Amino acid sequence: MSLSIALTKGRLEKNTVEMLERCGYGTEKLRDKGRALVFEDTKKDIRYFLVKANDCITYVEHGVADVGVVGKDTLMEGGKDYYEMLDLQIGKCRFIVAGLAGHNPLEKSGHVRIGSKYPEVAGNWFRSRGMDVEIIKIDGSVELAPVLGLCDGIVDIMETGTTLKENGLVVYDTVAEISARVIVNKASFKMKRDEIMTFVSDLERIVKEDAQKNQSE
Ligand code: PRP
Repeated sequence: MSLSIALTKGRLEKNTVEMLERCGYGTEKLRDKGRALVFEDTKKDIRYFLVKANDCITYVEHGVADVGVVGKDTLMEGGKDYYEMLDLQIGKCRFIVAGLAGHNPLEKSGHVRIGSKYPEVAGNWFRSRGMDVEIIKIDGSVELAPVLGLCDGIVDIMETGTTLKENGLVVYDTVAEISARVIVNKASFKMKRDEIMTFVSDLERIVKEDAQKNQSE
């Protein structure tokens, strides 16, 4: 296969596959995949595989995947050894600081405990504001942590805001805007520049088309 592409499964998967389909890439197998994790588009000579977000970076950094599609949230949290080539403008959400209503962790004096799946992002953000922060790493259902008194607030991603609302939490600040990005292995970019640029430009065309559509609406 000329290109190996790691896609992030879950939240981003459907939108990514739709974009690829609009570019004319053979995505039938990705759409109707059952439990399979590797797919080949023999016409375009591309192999796709579906992995978790963190692993997407790992596969790209090790060159097992030439290209990856992964959220900016995961890129901000770890891994630096790749080129970030394109903002796909899908999977849009926000990194936010939230806490219980009436308990803004940003107004707390002294030691603040923050729960997050993203300890680097959370720690850097609070420390850059000169705050004395302790980060408590949580793997999922982060919204539960302040409700149960594990921490004063959380740093997490918010898409619709439903999870926060249903757990009585409010947003106190925005850390960053998030969307899906195309990343590329550095050595692959040298060896397979043409194939990679074709793939990236195909996706870029769709991003531009959508931006124009949104503008004229
Ligand atoms: C993410 C995030 C929030 C939720 C936000 O979790 O950590 O919990 O989605 O989405 P919303 O604003 O649309 O409600 P995810 O669903 O990935 O599951 P997890 O908590 O198990 O990590």
